[in-house]
Amino acid sequence: MPTTQLEHKVIVITGGAGYFGSSAVKRFLGLGANVAALDVSEDALASLDGEGFEGQLLKIVCNVTNADGVTAAVNQIVEKFGPPDYLWNNAGYQGAICPTLEYSITDFSRVMNINVTGMFIVLQACAKLMPSGSSIVNTASVAGIKCTPAMVAYSASKAAVIAMTSCTAKDLAPKGIRVNAVSPALIGPGMMWDRQNELHAACDSPYFANDAEKVAKNKVNGVPMKRLGSVEEVVDMVEFLFSDKASYVTGTNMVVDGGMSSGLR
Ligand SMILES: NC(=O)c1ccc[n+]([C@@H]2O[C@H](COP(=O)([O-])OP(=O)(O)OC[C@H]3O[C@@H](n4cnc5c(N)ncnc54)[C@H](O)[C@@H]3O)[C@@H](O)[C@H]2O)c1
Repeated sequence: MPTTQLEHKVIVITGGAGYFGSSAVKRFLGLGANVAALDVSEDALASLDGEGFEGQLLKIVCNVTNADGVTAAVNQIVEKFGPPDYLWNNAGYQGAICPTLEYSITDFSRVMNINVTGMFIVLQACAKLMPSGSSIVNTASVAGIKCTPAMVAYSASKAAVIAMTSCTAKDLAPKGIRVNAVSPALIGPGMMWDRQNELHAACDSPYFANDAEKVAKNKVNGVPMKRLGSVEEVVDMVEFLFSDKASYVTGTNMVVDGGMSSGLR
């Protein structure tokens, strides 16, 4: 294997067993990194494929909203691999797809707790140990910029992630730690894209057609380049933001889709 910049580096990925996370785990293992995949889902972690890279992969069941659990996970990572060089703070919960007047307060709090407080807990626990030259990427969403209808909690939480990214980038710059956000927009094709369009079609919002195929078509038509972004492109962006090629980049929010999003995510 040719030497890569990530070889022997320690990468922490939350939501590491999910759609984006599992793809990144595979990519970074292949580039020679030691990867800690944290996820609340024990089943999903169990099926996370690290074949051929067993010594480089540490799977930890961890709920990012539990500060003691996150501290214990970080201690485990330090013991096995050393302090984190890179963090993809990526765990997230979409919440209900439901217009504002019917949105449950309980679900609103849950979305904010996982997407905002949980992200901060992980960021703080890792940043305390990260060396100068390290890099953090927080997963926001284009929903946090364009504010997707029927997704009030999610949009508010991802706007908070973008603000958290700018603020922590300033606070951590003197320590030599960069912090950026990645905002996936229309990502597909595949199961997640189809499910999202079905949920939007069923949510009874006047902004979405009530047929999933039409919803999908309308969304793509709103993108100047008329294409979806891919999971690989999201991971490409994270890899770039980790790399020395991005040593001048901090406090930014990189949107990943086929151009500019329509806002009807
Ligand atoms: N898929 C998209 O099109 C899209 C678009 C924009 C933003 N995002 C964001 O990207 C990130 C990853 O999404 P995904 O598409 O891979 O979804 P996913 O549901 O496949 O992955 C999310 C992972 O986070 C884990 N998770 C949820 N709550 C957790 C908690 N409290 N502690 C630890 N882990 C927890 C889940 O178990 C899951 O494995 C999320 O932050 C999501 O909001 C996704």
